[in-house]
Amino acid sequence: MRHALALAEKGRGYVEPNPMVGAVVLDSTGHFVGEGWHQKFGGPHAEVFALAEAGERARGGTLVVTLEPCCHHGKTPPCTDAVLRAGIARVVAAMADPFPRVAGGGLAVLRAAGVEVSVGLCERDAVALNAPYLKLLRTGRPWVHAKWAMTLDGKLATRASDSVWISGEESRRRVHELRGRVDAVIVGRRTVAADDPLLTARPPGPRTPARVVVSASGELPERCRLRATARPDGPREVPLTDPETRGPVIVFTANPHRLAGWAADGAEVVGLRDAAMSLDAVLADLGQRRFTNVLIEGGAGLLGSALDARAADEFHVFVAPKVVGGAAAPSPVGGAGVARMADALALDRVTFEPSGADVYVHGFAPSRG
Ligand SMILES: NC(=O)c1ccc[n+]([C@@H]2O[C@H](COP(=O)([O-])OP(=O)(O)OC[C@H]3O[C@@H](n4cnc5c(N)ncnc54)[C@H](OP(=O)(O)O)[C@@H]3O)[C@@H](O)[C@H]2O)c1
Repeated sequence: MRHALALAEKGRGYVEPNPMVGAVVLDSTGHFVGEGWHQKFGGPHAEVFALAEAGERARGGTLVVTLEPCCHHGKTPPCTDAVLRAGIARVVAAMADPFPRVAGGGLAVLRAAGVEVSVGLCERDAVALNAPYLKLLRTGRPWVHAKWAMTLDGKLATRASDSVWISGEESRRRVHELRGRVDAVIVGRRTVAADDPLLTARPPGPRTPARVVVSASGELPERCRLRATARPDGPREVPLTDPETRGPVIVFTANPHRLAGWAADGAEVVGLRDAAMSLDAVLADLGQRRFTNVLIEGGAGLLGSALDARAADEFHVFVAPKVVGGAAAPSPVGGAGVARMADALALDRVTFEPSGADVYVHGFAPSRG
């Protein structure tokens, strides 16, 4: 199962909104005869690859799989058919699949056909692996990654809003890699004004993230790189190659009429009735698009409201050994915050890694994944 989980991981960024799945086939004497993983959204499932490799040797053998095999016709035929056709005698699954059209049905089909079925081996790891998929199914909201880079004295920018660059090349490479496997990169209006970011993954990754701006006022710059690249086939004011400028632009606002120019230039302008622009309304909309992972990149205002709402699931923080000082220089997380240290958000499963001259701190909100 550990090997199957490692195989599943290879699908990260390629399979969403499907789950990552890995599978191993053992023959009737317990020897390894096949493996596979779900490689691409809409493509064959892990079991199909593993059973194909095993061929006749699967007969009377065991299928070890990180998620319950499906039993419905989706983009591909039911995996339970393939398992039965291969003559598998025993299925060991890490967890059941809560997807409504499966939800225990796959296991039931196998049991009814006389296959010995057990569920729950390494279940915690399987749940952690697919936490974004499971969250989207359970809540209709995508998994929220929060990212920021800060100086050693805990600043997000200088007192003059300059933040280019806090972190070094290696940290920025990691951020681009992260962008290339999420469905959306989200920033607040002031970050667009201060940094004029492109928000694309450079070089491109397995996914092309939508570039999302939230601005209740709709007071976005008339000229900026996001707007100039909103229509992939539109006039180019930014000298970049195609994949680097690809990616739809979505603006959430309470004042869509102010953004007619952005819409004319190819941005999707979504008017929210919620004038307070609760982040949840934005996340609900992105969840309806079946976005599985989104990345909030700042600034302090937007990250503050995300953390006040306890909306962030996973954290990526880069600490650069620089000191900028200044009482007026912003820290990464604004919002209301908490009054008592006892109420601070204490991250789980935290790791610290050198990232060039910086330190990369990675962790999860408690009890997520
Ligand atoms: N170091 C880093 O990693 C990093 C990353 C990003 C940004 N930055 C820096 O951060 C600074 C900008 O941060 P900021 O705090 O001034 O602004 P921000 O968070 O980028 O933008 C805040 C704006 O977002 C809009 N917004 C919409 N819904 C919101 C909600 N639910 N909660 C909060 N805001 C919402 C509001 O726009 P409306 O007023 O239109 O309603 C608000 O004024 C810049 O200096 C930038 O360089 C640093």
